[in-house]
Amino acid sequence: MDAGAQKLRVAIAGATGYAGQELLRILARHPGVTLTTAMSSGTTSKPRSMPALNHIWDNPIVPLDLDRLTAEADFVFLALPEAIAAKIVPSLLKKECRVIDLSGAFRIRNNEQRRQWYPETVDFPKGVVYALPERHRDHMRLARVLACPGCYPTAALLALEPLAAAGLIEEPIIIDAKSGLSGAGKTPSDRTHFSENHGSVAAYGVFSHRHGPEIIQELQKSVIFVPHLVPLNRGILETIYVKLRPATSAKQIEETLKTAYADAPFVRLTGEMLPEIKNVAYTNFCDLGWVVDEATQSAVLVSCLDNLIKGAAGQAVQNLNIVAGFDERTGLL
Ligand SMILES: NC(=O)c1ccc[n+]([C@@H]2O[C@H](COP(=O)([O-])OP(=O)(O)OC[C@H]3O[C@@H](n4cnc5c(N)ncnc54)[C@H](OP(=O)(O)O)[C@@H]3O)[C@@H](O)[C@H]2O)c1
Repeated sequence: MDAGAQKLRVAIAGATGYAGQELLRILARHPGVTLTTAMSSGTTSKPRSMPALNHIWDNPIVPLDLDRLTAEADFVFLALPEAIAAKIVPSLLKKECRVIDLSGAFRIRNNEQRRQWYPETVDFPKGVVYALPERHRDHMRLARVLACPGCYPTAALLALEPLAAAGLIEEPIIIDAKSGLSGAGKTPSDRTHFSENHGSVAAYGVFSHRHGPEIIQELQKSVIFVPHLVPLNRGILETIYVKLRPATSAKQIEETLKTAYADAPFVRLTGEMLPEIKNVAYTNFCDLGWVVDEATQSAVLVSCLDNLIKGAAGQAVQNLNIVAGFDERTGLL
């Protein structure tokens, strides 16, 4: 960007959470923005600093204050629980802020479905766009609320959307997903407590995880989605099983994915060299590999990302870069 160009003012609510801290790390060093304020929860918090962010963001993190948030920012990033995001977004919009929401509050468009999965979202304002940057770049430039995809859907949709759009895959699609524990946020539960999870792997949320309907909404295909918790801090790896449309070749799968991501700086196609979490941890990359068995018309795709970066904060900043007209890689590569 031009050295003299005016910087955008951005603020973060939920800056003490796992996703919010990553936002702080990225936005404090982003050359196109001024991070004006970072906020934590209103009810429990006092101004505090985060030792891990010393020399990156030395200002205190202050309690949530909507007036200050709207006065000090053109774009507000929300890394809050769904219920809080659902409640405050209408007020932020009234004050002409644009919102980049990491929560699920505004991802589901169908009213009935949303009431079922996100009952806390009472108002669904105009100008909400589901914002998977690689797929919806052109639809989101004028959005008032960018509803960033969930971490599991990001990995699933990057693998499957191009193939579904090309009509190459049949239903149902089976997604076997594994996530590290930071995917559940910083408040420990029986399931995520170190001594419960360390040395174990568990399936959860079968047919009842909120990311299932989100994936189905975007693919418009039937999906069996089974998440698992694995004893890692961060990272998601999804093994996706698909039956191919009759007479689909390995070459067609490869060409479809290569065409879809020819201009996507954060999707790395690894082909038969299947991706691993260690190669994407702490980055905004989604690595995507696949193996096709033409004899049985089957394919297995493996999609892998860091849930806190490409699955949350990094993707949110990538969206800001697109809507603000920065190079998509700014602050991320
Ligand atoms: N973790 C992931 O991998 C991931 C990925 C994609 C999307 N997301 C979404 O991003 C959002 C944040 O997730 P997270 O994992 O970072 O959660 P988290 O670690 O639990 O952090 C939650 C943040 O929200 C703040 N907060 C909690 N209650 C609040 C209230 N009543 N008013 C204002 N602020 C409040 C917390 O502040 P205090 O520190 O003061 O409590 C904290 O800063 C969630 O909607 C989640 O679904 C998470």
